[in-house]
Amino acid sequence: MAILFDSKAKTFTLQTKKSTYQMKIDEQGVLLHTYFGAGTDESDYSYLIVPDDHGFCAQPSEHGGNRNYSLDFYPQEYSVHGNGDFRIKALRAGLEGRVPALDLRYGGYEISDGKYALPGLPAFFAGKEEKVHTLRIVLKDLYEEVYVTLFYGVFEEKDIITRAAVIQNRSNVPLRLKRAMSMSLDFPEGMDAFICFHGKHAGERQFDRRTLHSGVTEIGSNRGTSSHQQNPFAILCGKDTTEEFGSCCGLSLLYSGSFQIQAEVDQFEGVRVTCGIHDEEFEWILNKDEEFVTPEAVLSYTDQGLGDLTRTMQRAMSENLIRSPWKNKKRPVLVNNWEATYFDFTGKKLLQIAQQAARIGLDMLVLDDGWFGKRDDDNSGLGDWYVNEEKLGCTLRELVEQVNEMGLQFGIWIEPEMVSENSDLYREHPDWAMTIPGRDPVRGRNQLTLDLSRREVIEYMKASIDQLLGMANIAYIKWDMNRSVDNVFSSAAPYLSQGAVRHKYILGLYEVMEYILSRYPDLLIEGCSGGGGRYDAGMLYYVPQIWCSDNTDAIERLRIHYGTSFGYPMSTVAAHVSVCPNHQNGRVTPFQTRGICAMQGAFGYELDLDKLSEEEIRQAKEQVEFYNMHYELFQKGDYYRLSSPFEHHDFTAWSYVMPDGSKASLSVVYTDLHGNPKPQRIKWRGLIPDAVYELDGQEYTGAALMRGGCILPKPRENYDSWMAVIERKAKRNR
Ligand code: GLA
Repeated sequence: MAILFDSKAKTFTLQTKKSTYQMKIDEQGVLLHTYFGAGTDESDYSYLIVPDDHGFCAQPSEHGGNRNYSLDFYPQEYSVHGNGDFRIKALRAGLEGRVPALDLRYGGYEISDGKYALPGLPAFFAGKEEKVHTLRIVLKDLYEEVYVTLFYGVFEEKDIITRAAVIQNRSNVPLRLKRAMSMSLDFPEGMDAFICFHGKHAGERQFDRRTLHSGVTEIGSNRGTSSHQQNPFAILCGKDTTEEFGSCCGLSLLYSGSFQIQAEVDQFEGVRVTCGIHDEEFEWILNKDEEFVTPEAVLSYTDQGLGDLTRTMQRAMSENLIRSPWKNKKRPVLVNNWEATYFDFTGKKLLQIAQQAARIGLDMLVLDDGWFGKRDDDNSGLGDWYVNEEKLGCTLRELVEQVNEMGLQFGIWIEPEMVSENSDLYREHPDWAMTIPGRDPVRGRNQLTLDLSRREVIEYMKASIDQLLGMANIAYIKWDMNRSVDNVFSSAAPYLSQGAVRHKYILGLYEVMEYILSRYPDLLIEGCSGGGGRYDAGMLYYVPQIWCSDNTDAIERLRIHYGTSFGYPMSTVAAHVSVCPNHQNGRVTPFQTRGICAMQGAFGYELDLDKLSEEEIRQAKEQVEFYNMHYELFQKGDYYRLSSPFEHHDFTAWSYVMPDGSKASLSVVYTDLHGNPKPQRIKWRGLIPDAVYELDGQEYTGAALMRGGCILPKPRENYDSWMAVIERKAKRNR
């Protein structure tokens, strides 16, 4: 059994294949955290907690005379404000009119088969016939009728433990939540490093490994989205942890709004981590019998390095988080007209692109921004989701029919969460936009954010989607969101409830997503927020792929893909071949390299196919054929980072290996050139050691390719690239 309660020792032990997690109810009913690390037995690990009088460490009342006990250094399972613990807390709450303080004590547990779900929020789920277990532990405040239920989902085979908390007020007085994190987790032995993924628009998820120092290390977003700037995925690890060796713990928050992850090194060099909804501007009031459900946090521990952690997270997200039936289907190779035309297109131009797309063998044309309302630049039109037939020269249905006749599917861009002031929607419902009364609005991309905390806005959004999808044969939508959310004020909410609006917005978004998913199960939805500004596990519950970045330069994408791969499956990374000089940075790269780079994920093109040379068309055809032949590798293969673009200047390399070792690919992009270059060697990973593979007409054992490696061809030009696919041979010829 993956969850064991020892009634004598009063320990709960959660077992996964490679890790063990343990809690203990102590004599006072405090839920202590006693272990999380490499898989071990169910011994009571509380012997590792050493009672001592450390000075300036407070005692709960029952311990008045015993100064050796203090929640200021005892590891706890869900830390709260007001019980003498001065480290970062998971929960800060108090009844109306009283100072926030809680003292949670054990009040019961339940173990059940299957995985719990969270109402209105994304959550991991058990696969068909997969054995997953749930543990609920109830905690109650010592003084008031305030309850916290801790939820644990144990995916034994997948090495995943999920957590969430539900806070309930059963008293007659309203309870004010000032901070309600999904979890806190103590590592009394400490952790040396914190890895996070920071960035900017057009430069997301850059690998950032920091040594933890005393005090609090914090990342987060207060932008209403998970953001380009930080990502709700982080790793704690040892100082010597590498791709292949060492201990590390991954932490992913299933949330698409403002979030916070903190890691505090305390006075005895223990580390506490908290993660959840950002507490800035957050305040939630619970009346009698109401409850607040936190987003889910997902944990995985391994002592086999960052690569192993990545593959665990990627596999679990692919199988236990993404619901879209598209996750197992071959994604259409598409052409998107954004970088081809921006706003400047006609129906005729689109059809020319489609014609070329059909010639090259692509599957879909995606019509990006500018097809609706008055939208010839990004200053107007958002909210008016009716087709600009004058610009298209026909109805949307007619356009789509012509595209379909060429053998292509059709996809379309929308940005439903936004409104331009110059739009009919805004003129009709100015109060649906979030602005602070009496102040000029702060605009982003000259647009305002719709108030998705309001029922009528949610219903309007569902209706606009129904209307759009009813207009033509639409197989795909790109759901965009193009600003950071500021000036959050809902004119429908009382003044005192404004602290709830940001979270209600996200709940509203999830409700709309859920609606679309259940009503249009075959629709392929690509998430987007100015590229990868909302690339998080919360979104992946609703969409199987996300436009990874507005930066389409193959070389910058090496870093962006590298960072993204730590937390997310590569099948979710939408990547396109674009024109050179690249529109974001002016760089020129070979067409082949752009293809190899974009094949790391959900593959496509984003340039005017009509302007390609015959040679480029030939290469594009080859790329599409190659991708179609090997897409299973890119969609389902295990991913190996072979060299880091942040550390290795000469090249970046990565590999996919089918889980049964039958087939593998290796891709290399050269990022520097040298006169008189040394031979470059690279070691494959994940192959079957005694199997035989053929590479460039030569046979090698898996062991040879992994231990000895192979020699890379010499680069012929700047940003040259190389890619090979090897298959396991039935038996050795020589
Ligand atoms: C965002 C997206 C782009 C494109 C534009 C359209 O920036 O990331 O891919 O769709 O919006 O306005």
